[in-house]
Amino acid sequence: MVCEYGSELKRMVEVARVHTENGKLADYIPALTKANPNDIAVSIFDGQSTCFSEGNYNQRFTLQSISKILTLALALIDHGEEVVFDKVGMEPTGDPFNSIVKLEAHKPSKPLNPMINAGALAVSSLILGESANEKVDRLIAFVCQLSGNDFLTYNAEVAQSEFETADLNRSLAYFMKQHGVITEDVEELLSFYTKQCAIEVSCEDLARIGYVLANKGKNEDGIEVIPADVARIVKTFMVTCGMYNASGEFAIKVGIPAKSGVAGGILCAVPNKMGIGIYGPALDEKGNSIAGMKLLELISERYELSIF
Ligand code: DON
Repeated sequence: MVCEYGSELKRMVEVARVHTENGKLADYIPALTKANPNDIAVSIFDGQSTCFSEGNYNQRFTLQSISKILTLALALIDHGEEVVFDKVGMEPTGDPFNSIVKLEAHKPSKPLNPMINAGALAVSSLILGESANEKVDRLIAFVCQLSGNDFLTYNAEVAQSEFETADLNRSLAYFMKQHGVITEDVEELLSFYTKQCAIEVSCEDLARIGYVLANKGKNEDGIEVIPADVARIVKTFMVTCGMYNASGEFAIKVGIPAKSGVAGGILCAVPNKMGIGIYGPALDEKGNSIAGMKLLELISERYELSIF
């Protein structure tokens, strides 16, 4: 199977590329409009020495919401389940990622899950560190360990661009502060959150992180990078909420634990098999990579990867 990836992946990437025409770059974070909407790429890492990549895989992009599974993992390692799930729930919302509606409608006012923006902000407030910069340094060190790439950093232009325009996220954070879900300074929290979202990666980095999650927290050398229980919780949220209000359709059509970001990345963990990284910045109306979802459908069907 492995030696077939080359030509087959190339063909699937080109089939998926056609769908980039039907998507749109995220423009509510102005710096994200610099991407090429026709880009589409994939990397597959199954723990062997080579990572198979096709398409525009040299393009680097920011994690955006993919960072939410990484802060969740770090918060669980730092504090344990009880503390984390005191701040944030475990249920899917069926709402868009930046929705405020359930925060007020649902009592107590804690966000329903760590994948929507409100929940991610609450989780980010748990990351240990004296300042936003100290927190982001810790998070980057953690992502370096997971990806095996020691040179990761955040894109300061993208972080600043989001910080200047993140009024919806600010309002979510202020709402939660009023209701005691978070206690820290909102601007400091937004500074950390926008930097975590701006951590820059490649498809290969995503595939390698996905592999660790798929492999119950161990990297390809058998070294435990995150506890197996944390990897299990993260993968479960990826299934139930990773693609937001498209998670149900994605489970049926692709059936792989996955987390998307508005810069066009999708990180996938195929349990006990492989990690897959996708990049395709043209998004559908729910904020997921439009060609990336198509490509994953083709890959999942061809290699029978659905977990269901
Ligand atoms: O908070 C935001 O709106 C962005 N930094 C991240 C949102 C995102 O990636 C949603 N994903 N599909």
